[in-house]
Formats: sequence, C-alpha cells, structure tokens
Amino acid sequence: MDRKDAEARIRQLRGEILEHRRRYYGEDAPTISDYEYDMLERELRSLEELFPEFRDPSSPTRTVGGARSKAFLPVAHPVPLLSLENAFGEEEVAAWHARLARVLGRDPGGFVCELKLDGLSVALRYRNGVLVQGATRGDGLVGEDITANLKTVESVPKTLADGPADLVVRGEVFLPLDDFQTLNEERQESGLEVFANPRNAAAGSLRQLDPGVTASRPLAVLVYQVLRTSGGEPATHRETLERLHGWGFPVDSNWRGCGSLEEVLEFCRHWTGRRHELPYDADGVVVKLDDAGLRDRAGATARSPRWAVAYKFPPERAHAVVERIEVQVGRTGVLTPVARLDPVTVGGARVSNVSLHNQEEIRRKDVREGDTVVLERAGGVIPYVVRVLPEARPVLSRPYESPKACPVCRAPVRRTEGEVALRCTSRSCPAQIKEGLRHFASRGAMDIEGLGRVLTENLVDRGLVRNVAGLYSLTKGQLEALPRMAARSAENLLGQIGRSKEKPFEKVLYAVGIRLVGAETARDLASAFPSMKALMEAPPEALQEVEGVGPKVAGEIRAFFEVGENVSLVRSLEAAGLRMRREEAGEGPLGGLTFVLTGSLPGLPRSRAKEALEGLGARVGSSVTRQTSYVVAGEDPGGKLERARKLGVPVLGPEALAALLAGDLKPVGRGGGGA
Ligand code: IVH
Repeated sequence: MDRKDAEARIRQLRGEILEHRRRYYGEDAPTISDYEYDMLERELRSLEELFPEFRDPSSPTRTVGGARSKAFLPVAHPVPLLSLENAFGEEEVAAWHARLARVLGRDPGGFVCELKLDGLSVALRYRNGVLVQGATRGDGLVGEDITANLKTVESVPKTLADGPADLVVRGEVFLPLDDFQTLNEERQESGLEVFANPRNAAAGSLRQLDPGVTASRPLAVLVYQVLRTSGGEPATHRETLERLHGWGFPVDSNWRGCGSLEEVLEFCRHWTGRRHELPYDADGVVVKLDDAGLRDRAGATARSPRWAVAYKFPPERAHAVVERIEVQVGRTGVLTPVARLDPVTVGGARVSNVSLHNQEEIRRKDVREGDTVVLERAGGVIPYVVRVLPEARPVLSRPYESPKACPVCRAPVRRTEGEVALRCTSRSCPAQIKEGLRHFASRGAMDIEGLGRVLTENLVDRGLVRNVAGLYSLTKGQLEALPRMAARSAENLLGQIGRSKEKPFEKVLYAVGIRLVGAETARDLASAFPSMKALMEAPPEALQEVEGVGPKVAGEIRAFFEVGENVSLVRSLEAAGLRMRREEAGEGPLGGLTFVLTGSLPGLPRSRAKEALEGLGARVGSSVTRQTSYVVAGEDPGGKLERARKLGVPVLGPEALAALLAGDLKPVGRGGGGA
C-alpha cells in the first residue's frame, strides 16, 4: 500500500471505528460483531505503525472507547479505568509475555488468570463501608453517575464487612445467560427489538433513566480490581481477590494462579473449549501479573497497563446456506422471520434455524433465500446472522419481501407504532391459539403435563379447542379419537387438566397471557389485587403502583380487558372452576398480613423465613406495594427497603422477625398497619 492509499484508509478506519463505538457504547446496539470490530482496530493500529507520519493522539487507537450520555451526571474517576490490550491467539500472548520480560529485565514470574466477563465495566465507591457512588467507565477518565441504578443490582454490596474508610473497586455488571434468554423471549413476544447479546442487554438495562427498569432486570456484578484504598495496597493480585471477597464483594471463583507462560496458555486453552459451560458470557481470559511491585515497574500507556493482557477467544463462526425464510406466528401474533438453514455446526452446536428477528433486521442485512450467511454464536447460546456473503449470492436472487398477510390465517398484518414487529391482526388465528395453549399449559403457568406440540396442533386443527377455556370441556371420547392417543393417556391428560383448576390465582393471571405480564408481574399483581374482577376494574394509576408495572404494562392490562373476547374467556375459565381470586388469609396469628423479605437474614435462609411466615398464615410477596404489611430487611437490603420507606410500609429487622416467629411480638395492624 502506498502512502496515499494508507492515509485514505486510516482516515476511513478512524471514522468507522468511532461510529461503531458510538453504536456499541452510546446506543448499546452494535451493528458488527466484536471480532469484526477488533479487526478494524487492529488494521488501523498496524497502518499507524507502518506510516508513523499519520499518527494522531486523538486516533481511536490511543483512546478508550465509550461515550458519555448527557442523561447522566459526569463522574471523574479517582484512578483512570484503563482498557486492556488484546491478544488473538497463543502467539500473541507469548509475544506480550516476552515484551513484559524485556521491560522488567527478568522473568515476570507469577500471574493470575481470570475470565474476561463480557459485560459493562463499573466503578463502585464506598465511604466507611457504605456504597456512595457507582459509575460507568465512560472514556476511562470520566464516567456516568448511575448510582441509583447500581443500587438496584442485588449482588452489589450496599454496605461492607469492615472495609477500609475509602475504597473504590472495579467490576463487571452482566446479565446471566438464562436471564438474557428469558428477557429476549419476552421482548420478542412484545414486539420490541431484541438485544443482540447479553452485554448489550446489560448495558441497556443499566443505563436507564428509570431505576425501576434496571431493578426489573436480573443483573449481577463480579468485582476484580481495587482502584483505590485507604487501607494499604495489597502486595499481590491474589491478595486483592481475597480481600475483596472478605469485604463481601462477589468475586468470580474461576481464577487461577499460574506460575509460567505455559500454565497461562493452558488456562486459555481450557476455557476456550469450555466457555459454553459458564452461566455467563465470557469473551476471553485476562492475564494479570500477580506481584504489585512488578506491576508498578511495568507501568501503563495512556490506554492500557503493560502488566495485563486480554486473550480473546476465537470467534465461533460458520457459513451456512439459507434454504428458505419462513415466518412464525407467536402467541401475541408477532411475526418472526426464521431462516431455515442447511445445518452447520457452530461453537459446538448444530444449527438448522436462525431467527432473523424482524423485517427491519432482514432489510438491514439484506438476507435473501439462497444466500450464504456468516453465523456466529453470540452470547454463547443463540446463533445469529452476522452478515451475508455477497460473493456467494445466486445470480437470480430477489430481495426478501415481508408478508402482507398472516402466513397461517391470511388475516392482514400490521405494525403497531413504536414496535419493530409485524403482527397478525386476527384474534382467531390458529397459530396464536396454539401458542397460547402452549403458554397456558407451560410449567410456570397451569402446568398441564402432556399437552405437547403435536397434541395442541391436533386439538386446534380439528376444531376441538378454540381457546384455552376449551380445554376444560374436552371429553375422554374426543381425546381417544385423536391419533396416537390411547385410553390411558386420555385419562391422564384429563386428570392433569382437572388438577390445574387448583392452581392459584396468580398462575391463572399469568396463564391467560396478557402482553408484558410475565410470571413475576402476575404474582405482584395478584398480591396487590385480590381478584380478577378487582384487576379488571383497576384504573391505570392503581396498576402502576405495583412494582414492575409502568405505563406500558398498565396499558397492556387495560387493553386486554377492553377486548370482549378476553372478558368472556375469563368468564368461561371462571365457570370451569379456575381460581379468579387469591386465597384468603390463611388461618393463624399472621393471617391477612403480607410480608416482603429483602437482604440476607443471619442464620435463616430466606426460603425458611418464607415457610415459617406462611406457616403462621402470612403471605410472602416479592415486591413492595402499598398493600404490603411489613418489609423484613436483613443485611445488604436492596431497593425494596427504599421503596418501603417511600411508601411508608413498616420495616422489621431480623430480631423483630425472630420475635414475631417465636410469638413474642404481636402485630397490631392488619393489611398495612403499624408494628
Ligand atoms: S481488568 C487495568 N479483569 O475487559 C485492568 N477486566 O478490554 C482493567 N473485563 O474494560 C481490567 N473481565 O470491562 C479486568 N476479570 C477482568 C475482566 C475485565 C472483564 C473487561 C473490563 C475492561 C475490558 C478490557
């Protein structure tokens, strides 16, 4: 490449990198994969080395990514939150090791290897053992003040066990893979844009203007660095991790001390093969020099320390041919285009379908039938299409056209304002009924075993069931007449359907499938409203007093009950004998009272405290509402304590709870009264 081309390419790369950083950090919505981004940075770095005349201190190779949003107050970090240099492959780790040995003038000795969590870097500041501030990394020097949001993260300690007077630590906030999947499924069904990967979901959840939204996402933190302490610097990194653990911070247990480069590489190899076994997303291994004195000698550049390196796991990719693009219809009518692939193995899993999410995504990536696509397993679990290989496109290919009608019932489709999804407009669409039945029967709802995919198909296609209430009028004769249904299985299924009538009101509320009302929200609604009738009549303001219910969820609840068919469905379910009100106060000294537990209770696991309270007739809820009688706050209580104070709900400490359970303390108030 000559000078002129190099200059042009450098300029282009700088622009592209800055744009990708803005999408990744600013919008939590990247449009290329992490690996592709890393390769752009790498190309720029090598061009800047080859053509030093074009070096520029403001080049993205010299700065730490991460813009700040004006929505949050700026926080100057007491110690810069540096980035890490990346190593792709073992040779690059070895090269880093050799360079470190040269700088130190000796064998570097011991290292600590940790997993590189793919989340959002945060700094937490404690004064006299109390959390006073939490911030994002931002550009490394100045971050965003997200204290209120971080306080809602359960594993962020709010107080420390005898920590130093002044302490700033750094850690990673992330969304465990299971929770990520659930969140995306809910968003998909609600017609909202899905998060590309757990990291974006975590970042999007944490950088919320409303801490209530953050609180509703099951974020977690793991802490790995002391940025500043008034209590004397630890001499080694192992000691840092031990101290952090002792003060009460969650520390990832998958770290290992490694005495040599070979052991370091062994750790990298081990986790490259096992990354899918982790409950969270890791994108590599961080290798850190153990000895603090040597770290100081090695020093840092403006961007990253010389004493550490990030070994990046190789991307898990494969090429696959899109045989067809089909459209699936979900429970709430959302149309999801799915690419049917000639099966390939990526990241150890066989993949034959991949969701294309929505029309907008297909348009952006221009995916067509017959195309060869690059697949990547992001977040370790869900494969997705990174891009199309244009050179492999068949000559006669045509752009994909989104359906004008529901592929199942032919009803027109519509896009609701503010949503990316198309929806089928029919209420009697068989696909929606089938998915609705499967949801109704699922484990977390009415838990009707044996009502699998084939059976639901048969029931709906033969017109035996037109809505979920239809299940309760099925007869043995009807079931026996279905293919592959023996007398015995028909009886079992009827038994299961009959038993489902015993399910509590909260399960029924979840099972009927109101948009945006998940299992947790249904439970909270059921503890705030005693019956379906009360819920039907509740104005939006009353609904919004329930935790996790904002204007959108409240709007969906109202919209559900405004549809005549839904109201008659609820009536039919009631007539079938399902519970439409919560069980009234249990007998016992605490009957009629609702408790919410927060924080850890010394010597009493939460499940036991719950059992004991219920044994005395109380109800134990999961969120604080005006209807809550008492909040029991243990150590490190979460945002629930603050909410209790705000709503004026009386708060009991662990001793008061013990006295209550022992019968030494008598509650005076009922349903919201004082202690
Ligand atoms: S140490 C100066 N340890 O990786 C050393 N970082 O590319 C600072 N990360 O921004 C980082 N897991 O957000 C360190 N165990 C770990 C990590 C970790 C994830 C992130 C961190 C940092 C990025 C660097």
